[in-house]
Amino acid sequence: MSIIRKLALGAGIGALLSTVAFADGLQGKVIGFSQIGSESGWRAAETSVTKQQAEKAGIDLKFADAQQKQENQIKAIRGFIAQGVDAILVAPVVSTGWDEVLGEAKDANIPVVLLDRGIDAPEDLYLTSVASDQVKEGRVAGEWLVATVGDKDCKVVQLEGTVGSSPANNRKKGFEEAIAGHGNITIVRSQTGDFTRSKGKEVMEGFIKAENGGKDICAVYAHNDDMMVGAIQAMKDAGLKPGTDILTVSIDAVPDIFAAMAAGEANATVELTPDMAGPAFVALDGYLNGGKVPEKFIITESKLYTAADDPKGQYEARKGLGY
Ligand code: AHR
Repeated sequence: MSIIRKLALGAGIGALLSTVAFADGLQGKVIGFSQIGSESGWRAAETSVTKQQAEKAGIDLKFADAQQKQENQIKAIRGFIAQGVDAILVAPVVSTGWDEVLGEAKDANIPVVLLDRGIDAPEDLYLTSVASDQVKEGRVAGEWLVATVGDKDCKVVQLEGTVGSSPANNRKKGFEEAIAGHGNITIVRSQTGDFTRSKGKEVMEGFIKAENGGKDICAVYAHNDDMMVGAIQAMKDAGLKPGTDILTVSIDAVPDIFAAMAAGEANATVELTPDMAGPAFVALDGYLNGGKVPEKFIITESKLYTAADDPKGQYEARKGLGY
């Protein structure tokens, strides 16, 4: 009989590795993990925490890096099925195109757990999904901006995540919901930066040129911190003061955004825990050892951090976690 130990959903990064969720009943199980790639600091941390969680639970983790390509993820999943793994974790790069391969896993009786991104597919094709409420993340970011600018006119530029991915679609939606009804806040430009630092910088350079050297921009909203770190560099290169001349709000809560915040160059971030694997392993333990069907959606917390939340301390607490 398995013993399920502490489940720390969104319990704060300080607690992350000391109270990791793990399930003794997965000792010796073989679990395949199809990871998207390494586009961001957050992604690197998720990979690193997943490997640590697997090791702690005695799982034989088969890791496959898809280098941002869905076709590589599909190949990896088919490979896991052929090997007869006990379960499969997938962080799906985009939200469509999964029905066939997940149907094959289902036919092989291999439970699939989605990590950090959602898909548009029948829910019976996966056991559970461990992810944040991405619409809420966008809403939290938008509400911060609404509260911060008050009645002032504010032109916003938006750096979107990977086209077709659930966080890009949902974080955009949530932010738009939060600013709706506040006619003084308008999104004047919006483009994908593919969740990477380099593209975030490149796109921000274009926004600055197009908006009077950046003088017409009041705020940047980025769907992740890495794109914001790139945008901060672009602002500095253009002689602007990020965090003062232009407000910033983004998502993930990676150490580098706290370093920028401590330097007065970033204003707000919404936390996304990199520990998606802990809850996933607990769910798999219950299912594989006794047939307990978990909730379809296991939702992690979305907490806002600003300069008032000890950014230096936050940086120190997170910097060694694989970001
Ligand atoms: O799916 C989660 C998102 O993917 C993170 O916010 C981003 O950094 C990553 O690329």
